[in-house]
Amino acid sequence: MKWIEIPHYYLSQKAVIQLVELPEKSFCLVWNEDRWIAFSKKCPHAGANLAHGWCEGREVVCPYHRHRFNLIDGRGAVGQGNYIQIYPLKEVDDVLYVGLKENIWDRIFR
Ligand code: FES
Repeated sequence: MKWIEIPHYYLSQKAVIQLVELPEKSFCLVWNEDRWIAFSKKCPHAGANLAHGWCEGREVVCPYHRHRFNLIDGRGAVGQGNYIQIYPLKEVDDVLYVGLKENIWDRIFR
């Protein structure tokens, strides 16, 4: 697992879903029920940008066709048969990090 710092300016906006664009990865970040959650930017149904969606309780709702995804485990609602990726986060000394899996080439060439 590779931990990447999320720049502080992304953490000042808690009211909406933000698209975080880092050199290593782009993903959505939202403040939801007293904690940060990082998840896939792309809806698995037809590719909508989930940063344009919204949260209802512990779910994110896609803006295109209203598929819903649980923000804890990423599972789509019953009958959808799809899911989004939830990325691990950790906070150390007021800095928030997102955990990304390293691929085989990263490990070989580091
Ligand atoms: S693209 Fe997200 S529900 Fe269709």
